[in-house]
Amino acid sequence: MRVRRVRGDERLTTSFPLQSYAFDKSPTEQDVSKHYRDFLPFHHGNHTLVAEENGATLATASGIPMRQNIRGTVLPMAGVAGVATHPLARRRGLVRTLLNQLLEEMRDDGTPVSVLYPFRPSFYARFGYVTLPQHRTAVFSPDGLASLLRADLPGELRWRRIADGYTDHRALTLRLLDEQHGFSVFPDFRAVSLRGDRKWVVTAHVDGELAGALSYRIDDHLGELSADTLLHTGPVGRTLLLSFLARHADQVDRIKLGLLPGETPELWADDLLVETKADVRTLGEHAPMARVLSLDGLDGIAAGPVAITVDVVNDALLAGRYHLDGTGGTLAVDRTDAPPAASLSAAGLSALVYGVLDPVEIALRGLGTIPLEAAEALRDLFPARPPYVYAEF
Ligand SMILES: CC(C)(COP(=O)(O)OP(=O)(O)OC[C@H]1O[C@@H](n2cnc3c(N)ncnc32)[C@H](O)[C@@H]1OP(=O)(O)O)[C@@H](O)C(=O)NCCC(=O)NCCS
Repeated sequence: MRVRRVRGDERLTTSFPLQSYAFDKSPTEQDVSKHYRDFLPFHHGNHTLVAEENGATLATASGIPMRQNIRGTVLPMAGVAGVATHPLARRRGLVRTLLNQLLEEMRDDGTPVSVLYPFRPSFYARFGYVTLPQHRTAVFSPDGLASLLRADLPGELRWRRIADGYTDHRALTLRLLDEQHGFSVFPDFRAVSLRGDRKWVVTAHVDGELAGALSYRIDDHLGELSADTLLHTGPVGRTLLLSFLARHADQVDRIKLGLLPGETPELWADDLLVETKADVRTLGEHAPMARVLSLDGLDGIAAGPVAITVDVVNDALLAGRYHLDGTGGTLAVDRTDAPPAASLSAAGLSALVYGVLDPVEIALRGLGTIPLEAAEALRDLFPARPPYVYAEF
């Protein structure tokens, strides 16, 4: 068995057939080649590895070169996707080999963090990933927003097909990337696939600045208006977008949309009967997971005013002793021989960086050995931040 990187048209005969078998509806031969060709441009910058034996592709895994805001600093992020093994070659350790190599290569290319959506969280927990909160969605009838129709709102709305409004939508995601911990964006070559979706987009503009964007589709007259995340820069942008949705009271029965962290839809209008939920029961609906690939690569992110020495253990990418110093206001990472105050697994360290778990909980979950004093220092070094991953087109 050999592992190699594939690029360009080679994907059509190596990684794509395995990914298509694993993730698509069973297609006809004709569908297959058209489907592959249509999607090829959206994969061209991916870091894709395949495992081959006797000329046959047996497994594949890709890293999408994304970007993510980690505590205020935008860093390269590896979005792991397209992980699939030939049905006759499963459980032979092929994906274990591929994923370890993929993460190592992307780390060596200067990518310090990684995010993925797992088919089964415990599978990726073995690779050092920790679970983040699931996206929350809100479902409500537009009737409940009627009061907003009479509100005097500053700014204006623009309503277009996504092909025409894509540039504004993308500009807003890039602005939120700069502002919001956890927010991430796809590279241009992939994000642009949104242009081809059969969606509408409404954008909110205040004093010539973008203040909100919502992409959506309507499934049927008197059916559902199904939207992506309600993206906005604050209450004005959000309320403008909600006033647009209010205008659909006699057109759709209900509206479903994704929420930025911290949203409380029950406060949006007095008579809004809304259900807000985060569902991880269904296969394919699991919460995102993330991990740190390089601690040195986090040098310079915002940190609290403490210093501590930790061991990171049981991880090929991170294992070692580190002095983490936030006394200058940002994280300084150095190797050291000083005695460690705590030891952390890759998932435990990732939980601290992303703000997912308190140090005490990390120890309780078996993701580290953290004496009480060290727990306090780690809590101060990585102050609580609402953990979040945004990864939509
Ligand atoms: C999931 C999948 C990629 C695993 O590939 P694989 O090559 O069989 O995985 P490996 O043999 O390298 O297994 C790695 C480890 O995970 C375990 N594992 C494999 N499949 C598993 C599963 N479905 N559930 C739980 N654990 C699993 C293995 O036992 C092994 O553990 P070990 O290293 O402790 O022995 C493969 O079954 C597949 O293609 N499934 C369909 C597509 C899919 O779901 N992809 C994942 C998208 S996120």
